[in-house]
Amino acid sequence: MDVLVALREKAKALNRSVVFPEGEDDRTIKAVAELEAAGTVRCVILGNAGKIQGRAKELGLDLGKAEITDPLSSPRLEEYAKLLYERRKHKGMTLEAARKQAQDPLYFGALMVKSGHAQGSVAGAAHSTGDVIRAGLYCIGLAPGSKVVSSSFMMVMPTGKVYMYSDGAVVPDPDVEQLASIAVTAAGLHHALTGEEPVVAMLSYSTKGSAEGPLVDKVRQATALARELNPKLRLDGELQVDTAIVPAIAAKKAPGSPVKGEANVFIFPDLNAGNIAYKITQRLAGAQAIGPIVQGLEKPAFDLSRGCSHTDIVNVAAINAIFSAALEGK
Ligand SMILES: CC(C)(COP(=O)(O)OP(=O)(O)OC[C@H]1O[C@@H](n2cnc3c(N)ncnc32)[C@H](O)[C@@H]1OP(=O)(O)O)[C@@H](O)C(=O)NCCC(=O)NCCS
Repeated sequence: MDVLVALREKAKALNRSVVFPEGEDDRTIKAVAELEAAGTVRCVILGNAGKIQGRAKELGLDLGKAEITDPLSSPRLEEYAKLLYERRKHKGMTLEAARKQAQDPLYFGALMVKSGHAQGSVAGAAHSTGDVIRAGLYCIGLAPGSKVVSSSFMMVMPTGKVYMYSDGAVVPDPDVEQLASIAVTAAGLHHALTGEEPVVAMLSYSTKGSAEGPLVDKVRQATALARELNPKLRLDGELQVDTAIVPAIAAKKAPGSPVKGEANVFIFPDLNAGNIAYKITQRLAGAQAIGPIVQGLEKPAFDLSRGCSHTDIVNVAAINAIFSAALEGK
């Protein structure tokens, strides 16, 4: 079965809810109609009910049982404002400022997730990555044990094989602690989405001491720390890409490595490398890039590319549902 179809089926069986803060965007309306018709997730749309229903009618779409909530008139607004105030008062936020901020659909959606009134959020068709991530950080916060919010791209190759590329969109220059945290989190995401055992390669221009320098040291130290964080993971570094994915080269250049040329999770040393790599794979190898999938938060607040289609939103919503269940150990 097609990987994405399989993900949607898996999401459907979990019966999770997802909130869509950009409810007045046509792509959200189309995606919600499709998700509701297929029963993939239970949808909450934020925005003016009259406008959203009117636009759905113009587009000839049925929003099914989707719940429409207007942050401006929601009876939960005060509760959410207080929650945001409690989380940000140490940074000087006043209750008045929190009331205003909580009306912003991105923040209202993230606060819904934090409060458990929705299990995940999906936005970014009309907002920048930075805006979506800041709302997640301020309203939801980091998962226990996580040091940083980062992202993975799920790369679906033409053969159907799936690789996780991390980080390709959020942290420009992770330090050792952050890089180790990114590796452990991306491994968990890979397992949640594919059911496969993650095999993690901490990538570099050096394999096991073939070169030296501060860039290599960072990857080596992050590898040691990631192993401490999760000793059961099949993870190794520092490795060059060929050693990570070609068993014959691995046998020569990294004999004894647990990765054995079978890596399916690639951890890049910085955002230049991760972003370049995912786009090269997408353009030259014809892979489908799904993401950035935001990881490291206690509950999922996912981003979209501003150029996304409604089908991208459907796929990301399915992944959101699977990931929120995995974070709860389901
Ligand atoms: C993540 C991002 C939104 C942070 O934004 P920022 O406003 O520069 O962040 P700041 O430095 O002002 O920090 C704001 C708060 O978030 C925290 N923070 C910032 N980035 C964080 C991260 N990745 N993980 C965890 N916490 C983070 C800071 O510690 C700070 O916390 P505090 O206010 O409680 O002290 C920013 O790095 C970003 O925009 N990344 C996207 C990069 C990009 O453009 N990608 C496009 C390629 S697709």
